[in-house]
Amino acid sequence: MSRLLVCAPDYFRIDYEINPWMRLSNAVVPERARAQWHGLMRLLEAKIGALLERMEPVPGLPDMVFTANAGVAVGRRAVPSRFRHPERQREESYFEAWFRDHGYEVTTLDKDLYFEGAGDLLGLPDAWFGGYRQRSDIRAYGRLSEIFGREIIPVELVNSHFYHLDTCFCPLSGGELLYYPPAFDRYAQAAIAERIGEARRLVVPESEALRFACNAVCVAKQVVLPEGCPETIKRLEARGYTTHPLPLDEFMKAGGSAKCLTLALE
Ligand code: ARG
Repeated sequence: MSRLLVCAPDYFRIDYEINPWMRLSNAVVPERARAQWHGLMRLLEAKIGALLERMEPVPGLPDMVFTANAGVAVGRRAVPSRFRHPERQREESYFEAWFRDHGYEVTTLDKDLYFEGAGDLLGLPDAWFGGYRQRSDIRAYGRLSEIFGREIIPVELVNSHFYHLDTCFCPLSGGELLYYPPAFDRYAQAAIAERIGEARRLVVPESEALRFACNAVCVAKQVVLPEGCPETIKRLEARGYTTHPLPLDEFMKAGGSAKCLTLALE
């Protein structure tokens, strides 16, 4: 059973611009956002069989819907995020409190060691990968590697449209990787290729990467992804995955999609 932390979009809106997708002039339509979010939740519960842990949204924290950035939780241990932008730093205490109130053993990072949670740290059976440059600090991965006792391969994100690792990199349950290579520098592309053989790498075309095809939720053989990604769907289905495309464009206005709206609680 897969447990996911989610937070309803009650206060979701575009209040500031901290990534190239966000424009103050491109306002969220609240009832559409609500309907899209509930559609995702229904699908996760009914089709994916996920158990949803819902946290209380907080007025004035519009990006709290993106619980992938709450932190990272493995077993009973959790490390809450340290956001780079002051606009999101106010979310930190709420996420930390949630982990504490739910029995996690919480380890906090220094204030200036930026780390944006499962938005930037993702694992495959072979290795964990940590995205850095745009949001998280490469130094965070040395510390996280000590905390979790796992090797973490830092990968540099070079395109501001793909500012979190989960916007361009999606490990699948069968050990394959769905990703968009140009979002990484050459060294990171080589590090990924070295760990994950070509037969296991599913490359997403640019047009679909820009529709957040990689921001997918994969549980067992089910993949939930934003609609408008037919090539990605073909590639996934050829590997035996069942795909569930959903309209999530209201969340793209903030630079997010399906995966960012969830945090896997192992
Ligand atoms: N507006 C949010 C930000 O820029 C979106 C976060 C999306 N989260 C993610 N894990 N990719 O921080």
